[in-house]
Amino acid sequence: MVAPILPLNLTSIEVRRSGRTILGPLSHRLEGRGISILMGPNGSGKTTLLKTMHGIERPTRGQIDWQITAEEARLRQAFVFQTPTILRRSVLDNIAFPLLLRGVPRKSAQTTAAELGEKVGLGKVLQQSAMVLSGGEKQKLALARALILAPDVLFLDEPCANLDSRATRDIEAILCDARDRGTRIVMATHDHGQARRLADEIWFLHAGKLIESTPKTQFFDAPQSAMARAYLKGDLLP
Ligand SMILES: Nc1ncnc2c1ncn2[C@@H]1O[C@H](COP(=O)(O)OP(=O)(O)O)[C@@H](O)[C@H]1O
Ligand SMILES: [Mg+2]
Repeated sequence: MVAPILPLNLTSIEVRRSGRTILGPLSHRLEGRGISILMGPNGSGKTTLLKTMHGIERPTRGQIDWQITAEEARLRQAFVFQTPTILRRSVLDNIAFPLLLRGVPRKSAQTTAAELGEKVGLGKVLQQSAMVLSGGEKQKLALARALILAPDVLFLDEPCANLDSRATRDIEAILCDARDRGTRIVMATHDHGQARRLADEIWFLHAGKLIESTPKTQFFDAPQSAMARAYLKGDLLP
């Protein structure tokens, strides 16, 4: 039996940069199953919170505790950036890369990568250089590469921000499939429709503070905070 990685406890975390608090102080817990969506205006701290949870941004204060050591936890989570990182090699080798890093033999890594590539809709371009893919295809590649190790937790930072509705729909289907297989997903978006479609719960941030964390239906139908009500109405927030 593999030890569970969750809950993740964030205790009084605070991120200060250039003499300014850009996140926190914030305490919260990530647990259970499903998809949590981070919403909030530009600059509210969504990216910083995602990176802090994933361990690529160091908090100035506070604690981040997984149920296993931070080193072990790191190996069981993945991150998809708004602008996907693409390696100068074939699509297949991009997707296979995390397996190669873990010492999986090339042939076997490529077989697994090809299956996943087919599944995310990149079957026809597997042998092509990844550099020439469209934006939507690059994001599918990034997602396939993030999923190839079947992470327990997947963080995504506005992965569909620059994509058309077709690519967005495909990405959402891949995410739902990963969720159904037990991957806990935490994703930032400011696409309200996407949040309504995917979220189990919403974490609403404003000015670095977690203003509310509520089940989706409650967030959209009866948000608790005046700030979230204004945000949903489309008002400009201070
Ligand atoms: N390295 C940094 N140094 C100084 N300020 C930063 C740094 N990174 C982010 N910020 C600032 O922190 C705030 C939160 O940023 P961010 O987490 O990117 O918000 P969001 O993703 O919600 O748009 C913004 O005001 C941003 O300008
Ligand atoms: Mg951001």
